[in-house]
Amino acid sequence: MTVDDPYQRLMGPMLARDDGPDPELMSQLSLRALAWAARRRRWPPWRGILASTAAMLQRQDPRLQQHCLGLTFPNPLGLAAGFDKNGVAAAIWHCFGFGFAELGTMTALPQRGNPRPRLFRLAAEQAALNRMGFNNYGSLRAASVLTEQQLPPPGERPALLGLNIGKSRATTMAAAAEDYAVSYSRLAPLADYVVVNVSSPNTSGLRDLQRVEALSQLIGRLQATPLPTPRPPLLVKVAPDLTDGQLIELAELALDLHQQGQLAGVIANNTSLDRHGLEARRLVTGRTLAEEAGGLSGAPIRTRSLAMLRQLRSRLQGRVPLVGVGGIDSPQAAWERLAAGASLLQLYTGWIYQGPQLVPAVLEGLLKQLDAHSLNAVADGVGTELPWLP
Ligand SMILES: Cc1cc2nc3c(=O)[nH]c(=O)nc-3n(C[C@H](O)[C@H](O)[C@H](O)COP(=O)(O)O)c2cc1C
Repeated sequence: MTVDDPYQRLMGPMLARDDGPDPELMSQLSLRALAWAARRRRWPPWRGILASTAAMLQRQDPRLQQHCLGLTFPNPLGLAAGFDKNGVAAAIWHCFGFGFAELGTMTALPQRGNPRPRLFRLAAEQAALNRMGFNNYGSLRAASVLTEQQLPPPGERPALLGLNIGKSRATTMAAAAEDYAVSYSRLAPLADYVVVNVSSPNTSGLRDLQRVEALSQLIGRLQATPLPTPRPPLLVKVAPDLTDGQLIELAELALDLHQQGQLAGVIANNTSLDRHGLEARRLVTGRTLAEEAGGLSGAPIRTRSLAMLRQLRSRLQGRVPLVGVGGIDSPQAAWERLAAGASLLQLYTGWIYQGPQLVPAVLEGLLKQLDAHSLNAVADGVGTELPWLP
């Protein structure tokens, strides 16, 4: 982004240092402002501010539109889960140019998450380490937060809303499926799509739910939950730290469940427990990355996320839609992920470092690649492995 970008001018210096202002506090303050704007979005002058934000950041082009998961996405770029954990800004994510936003992770019980500090900047690497531990209001209050915003119903929203659910910390692994089912029945009626998060590294035992038996039982339990029709599509979000063998098993299960109409797609991926060569890197705590608990996100996980997406693609052969997330922080990284098989893309860490202008930059970059490759629409680029043309 250029130095003229107001976000870079204001936030750049603070984000350029590991020991700048507390990253969690910065996120909380921004989110509080967004929540305020979402609640007052129909009042002048907020309406004016949001309209000019949208005019700056949205790129509306029919070539970006895509039918995927049985839904119509205005563009393939979404906000990843974890930034708006309670959906407080659900009503205005479209103003930031996103085609969809994933809210959560929400759990059946309200919870505070891990003790602070639990979010760390690795500025030189454009990365973050977090061990938030699903701090959220709980799915009951989160459902009210969404309802109170008087959102258009699913299918009629300017940006689609995915709701991401996880297991409450206090719930035993044996009762995990029931716990997810509680959040599912509260939230699914409000969602354009629902995500089963079985891949956060910060809830003990959660990743064991990626095993074939546990996952098919969990998905089966959710699909057996009575809901008004039509049911929103259900996706699963997986970890980047699966072995090749585990990934193959998971892909086969996903295909099976997809063919039975139980699973719409796979999101690859969550944060990583692997330190990606940064084991000796010291954080502001004075401890090394190898010593600190938490999941790594941002540029260092890009290569792994891309490779994993390719593995999934080669196994699934385009039969199950994939969502690519992990280290996407430029138009080129976005194109590579799409060309590797992701129908939809999500941003988190790159968006924090680069700011809102990253969204139009990526969307314009994708449109230029379509032109360069003489393609009509983003869907035509998915899984083609066509190279990035500078
Ligand atoms: C501070 C933070 C909190 C996150 N919380 C969640 C979460 O609650 N649920 C979830 O599914 N993913 C969560 N994620 C993971 C992101 O959605 C994303 O999968 C991951 O950060 C990789 O993308 P990135 O490299 O663009 O950040 C979180 C990430 C960060 C940095």
